[in-house]
Amino acid sequence: MTIMSLSETNPTTATVTSPGFPEQSIRAADFDGFYGSFQALKGISLDIPRNQVTAFIGPSGCGKSTFLRWMNRMNDTIVGARASGTLTLDGEDILRRSVDVVDLRRRVGMVFQRPNPFPKSIFDNVAFGPRLHWRHSRQDLEDLVEQSLRSAALWNEVKDRLHASALGLSGGQQQRLCIARAIASGPEVLLMDEPCSALDPKSTASVEDLIRQLRTAYTIVIVTHNMQQASRISDQTAFFFEGSLIEAGQTETLFTNPRSKQTEDYVTGRFG
Ligand SMILES: Nc1ncnc2c1ncn2[C@@H]1O[C@H](COP(=O)(O)OP(=O)(O)O)[C@@H](O)[C@H]1O
Ligand SMILES: [Mg+2]
Repeated sequence: MTIMSLSETNPTTATVTSPGFPEQSIRAADFDGFYGSFQALKGISLDIPRNQVTAFIGPSGCGKSTFLRWMNRMNDTIVGARASGTLTLDGEDILRRSVDVVDLRRRVGMVFQRPNPFPKSIFDNVAFGPRLHWRHSRQDLEDLVEQSLRSAALWNEVKDRLHASALGLSGGQQQRLCIARAIASGPEVLLMDEPCSALDPKSTASVEDLIRQLRTAYTIVIVTHNMQQASRISDQTAFFFEGSLIEAGQTETLFTNPRSKQTEDYVTGRFG
């Protein structure tokens, strides 16, 4: 078999120009999320635009991570977690019981707060998803690993030690490796939950640069408690408070001319 290039395996670039293909990647409408009887998300209606960076901001505990985890059904593993309302990816219902969650998580990749490479080689970390989903020849797999590491701006730093343990990389390199690992499965959406909060300022800057580059090929949703970060890297920002979406819109507008007093108080640092 011949390998498809990353752009071909990425449904975003393959389908974005088809007529009638929705401009929104993920759409939530009247979406509620619960843990048992506790309602963590209340009537969220929000469109996540394709090939843009959308930042979720808001005080700790307001539901940002919960919402993100519904987008690739990571909450399925939590006993008592349930949701109602609408949540779609490219117009398809993500919440249906019959959704193939392995394939959903391939299409909607996730990067966590602490870099979590597997205790394997750099190569095997990136090859993990492709080996799970497809049967590539050795050469094709090597090409895909290289492309993914290049896309994650890590190739030059690791090309001479692909078979060394990923755990020997710095924190910032590990986080870019986790991004390469997600990219290798050909996702359309990358979810990032405070991906820089465990990194030093220099590594944070390199991950932020990477996020800005990746938006041309992927739809990115990033949770951040750092408002400078949100304004540096995102196109859209959504402000959450106590499980409700207070306001969402163009990042620049939300920060400079918010509609709601609550948003203004938060972005000017009056609370949170
Ligand atoms: N696994 C869980 N079980 C029960 N409640 C949870 C769980 N995870 C989060 N919560 C609660 O849901 C609310 C939203 O949490 P979370 O989504 O983690 O907020 P954020 O990411 O904005 O800090 C909080 O009140 C939190 O305590
Ligand atoms: Mg969180």
